Amino acid sequence: MTNTRVAWAAAKTNDLSALWMPFTANRSFKQAPRLFARAEGTHFFTDDGRRVLDGTSGLWCVTAGHCRPRIVEAIRRQAGELDFAGTFQMGHTKAFECASRLVNIAPPGFDHVFFTNSGSEAVDTALKIALAYHRAKGNGAKTRLIGRERGYHGSNLGGTAVGGIAANRKMFGALVAGVDHLRHTHDLTRNAYSRGEPEYGAELADDLERLVALHDASTIAAVIVEPVACSAGVLIPPRGYLQRLAAICARHDILLIFDEVITAFGRLGAPFAAEYFAIEPDIITTAKGITNGAVPMGAVFVRSKIYDAFMSGPESAIELSHGYTYSGHPLACAAAIATLDTLQAEGLLTRAAELAPYWQDAVHSLAGLPHVIDVRNIGLIGAVELDPVPDNPGKRAHARFVEAFRRGILVRATGDVIALAPPLIIAEREIDELIDVLSGVLKSVAD
Ligand SMILES: Cc1ncc(COP(=O)(O)O)c(C=O)c1O
Repeated sequence: MTNTRVAWAAAKTNDLSALWMPFTANRSFKQAPRLFARAEGTHFFTDDGRRVLDGTSGLWCVTAGHCRPRIVEAIRRQAGELDFAGTFQMGHTKAFECASRLVNIAPPGFDHVFFTNSGSEAVDTALKIALAYHRAKGNGAKTRLIGRERGYHGSNLGGTAVGGIAANRKMFGALVAGVDHLRHTHDLTRNAYSRGEPEYGAELADDLERLVALHDASTIAAVIVEPVACSAGVLIPPRGYLQRLAAICARHDILLIFDEVITAFGRLGAPFAAEYFAIEPDIITTAKGITNGAVPMGAVFVRSKIYDAFMSGPESAIELSHGYTYSGHPLACAAAIATLDTLQAEGLLTRAAELAPYWQDAVHSLAGLPHVIDVRNIGLIGAVELDPVPDNPGKRAHARFVEAFRRGILVRATGDVIALAPPLIIAEREIDELIDVLSGVLKSVAD
């Protein structure tokens, strides 16, 4: 390169304007950027060399900690061996191996896996499978999809439509027809400062009966919920709620989709939230922790009754006209297999259960600090809710997130909730550090 060219390239590299950042206040970020350069274990390192304790597993995805050697090596090896092979009418061994490994740790009965590249794609895939399943069974009128207020199911069109976060929906018009929403379960009047599942609110599941009465069960294909609604501020299901919802779904032949993009792979202390809550959904969507965040991947787990419903008709016919170029990408499969190896070898699929009592006490020590109106926890997830600034929702939590980053911890602000979900390898002394620093932030940021 000539000197001029080098200078131009450097200038371009430092120009933040080219990237339109997702779910970000672009203008304010670019005035005071927060940039990471590398990561290891439970820490990020910023571009100016500061250590930042990762209190959010990246974006709820790096469950086994950053840059784990087994996963890094598997990706490297795979990239040099088979960089790409499609899975449309072709295949490669890693995709089949990966699917087999995944169904081995899935709840009993989930014998089949469909690969995607993200949680959003997993959700839209699950919704399409639900619609096509009923049609295959001769119930083509079952086309309605039910989500829940304050649910988050990714940012594709189907997921946005069944999602229940107003800010994510309002820019995009009518979205998808035939969608309705259950009431959310967040109730601070009755359940503030709950430890684990809140006591009150199982009856909110009966809201599904209201929608059945309104639309008739013969028109409803599926209900999709997150077992723990994380992105809208960590809303933990009231005790008995999910059981009641599952029973109503079963009664009306409505498929129950558990969106476990965050909760799968050990976040609650069991491999899947379905097992943690002892619920038997029909479809489970996953992503994030499936590859420890190292390569984009999602997976939809289905029961045999669903897979088998498609396996009729001429054997040469494509049974489900759906998929992505990168479904089952070799690098993603290699990363997922190495992630499973790591999670299993280190007992991480259940470690959150061991840490949960310590974590619970640590998180609840934040009660009583300025502006805190609730503290809640489940598994290795915690949340601190702040009273919102009138007419400026989210401002208070964002200011604390920025200050926390300055002091060396990464937390996540969603609305007026500060969410915590550290890597499952976190040590007790690191939990202390995370909570101490956050406590200092909550005490010192004015307003
Ligand atoms: C429950 C749930 N579903 C879907 C998604 C979307 O996943 P992705 O961002 O990988 O598309 C998320 C992301 O946070 C999620 O939490």
